[in-house]
Amino acid sequence: MFRLSVQSFFLSHTLSLLAFGSRSTSALTQVVLITGTSSGFGRLIAETLARKKFHVFASMRDVDTRNAVRARELEQLAKRESLILEVIELDVTQDASVGQAVTEVLAKSRRIDVLINNAGYGIMDLCETVTVAQAQRQFDVNFFSVVRMNRAALPIMKRQGSGLLLYVSSGAGRLAIPGMGFYCASKFAMEALAETYRYEVASQGIDSVILEPGPYATPIADKLAKGEDQQRRAGYGEMAHVPWKVLEGIRSSRANPQEIADKVLQIIETPAGQRQLRYRVGRGGPGVERINALADEVQAQLLEAYGIAAAAKFKLPNERE
Ligand SMILES: NC(=O)c1ccc[n+]([C@@H]2O[C@H](COP(=O)([O-])OP(=O)(O)OC[C@H]3O[C@@H](n4cnc5c(N)ncnc54)[C@H](OP(=O)(O)O)[C@@H]3O)[C@@H](O)[C@H]2O)c1
Repeated sequence: MFRLSVQSFFLSHTLSLLAFGSRSTSALTQVVLITGTSSGFGRLIAETLARKKFHVFASMRDVDTRNAVRARELEQLAKRESLILEVIELDVTQDASVGQAVTEVLAKSRRIDVLINNAGYGIMDLCETVTVAQAQRQFDVNFFSVVRMNRAALPIMKRQGSGLLLYVSSGAGRLAIPGMGFYCASKFAMEALAETYRYEVASQGIDSVILEPGPYATPIADKLAKGEDQQRRAGYGEMAHVPWKVLEGIRSSRANPQEIADKVLQIIETPAGQRQLRYRVGRGGPGVERINALADEVQAQLLEAYGIAAAAKFKLPNERE
């Protein structure tokens, strides 16, 4: 209850900033808010978009403590290259932190054109070794983060009549990988939410787009959690080694993570209303693309069957009543 009311407080403050205005640093520049920019894809996306003249709010948690060095590095890069890139504090698991960050973005730029839900981590172990508390943490970072971020950003995008919600999901958001059960479950959940949002907000000129990377050797592999109940490993035989095999597969990837940042740029630059629901990048592409193509077809039939295809259609401002 308290956590929700904290977010409501920041949201109403945010909306009053939007209504009455404040100093705008971005009259023409598109404003992008990214979660999880301390390393990996997030950092590369922040740099890539800033170099393309977007106004980037590169958020990360613990900017003054654990991530201080990474935060200063990005700030120095911005200074050196005269980029409009600001590092802000944002822990995606904390309502108050999300509220404060969005309020800060709005106070400085008065809009959010693109929200990139990128922050995430993984538990890499047999499902049975993972405790309920661990499973909840996995969902808090990979799924409820998106609930929080979208709820904070959507009132702003609705007032603008435009916006792009972008999600860094995974091939694991479409396929079940032994040793990664809760990570897969959290990304499947994220994809279901992202797709539902797509249909629900399209008529207001807001896009919801999922990016599905294959394996890339980012620092994610060094931050993976193991199941806390290792006794449950008993009896699994060869299967007990599967999580390490999968991890090796990720670590040995030679794919360049910059591909993901480049794809994000391409998606943003695609005109609103013409973007696909899902983009798959990296190893294992064709299989996931087949699933996506079939799902698109069946989803379209479902929307027709319920008589909601027209309501779920993307509308530009001149197409709205
Ligand atoms: N690398 C791959 O093979 C791969 C493949 C498919 C999808 N993905 C997805 O891509 C996204 C980025 O991952 P990555 O590979 O770039 O790994 P990464 O370098 O570990 O980046 C993950 C980012 O999320 C942040 N994060 C974690 N918990 C957070 C929290 N509570 N609040 C705010 N930020 C938080 C991390 O911050 P800290 O440094 O503070 O922990 C880090 O900045 C993730 O969603 C991941 O699931 C990765």
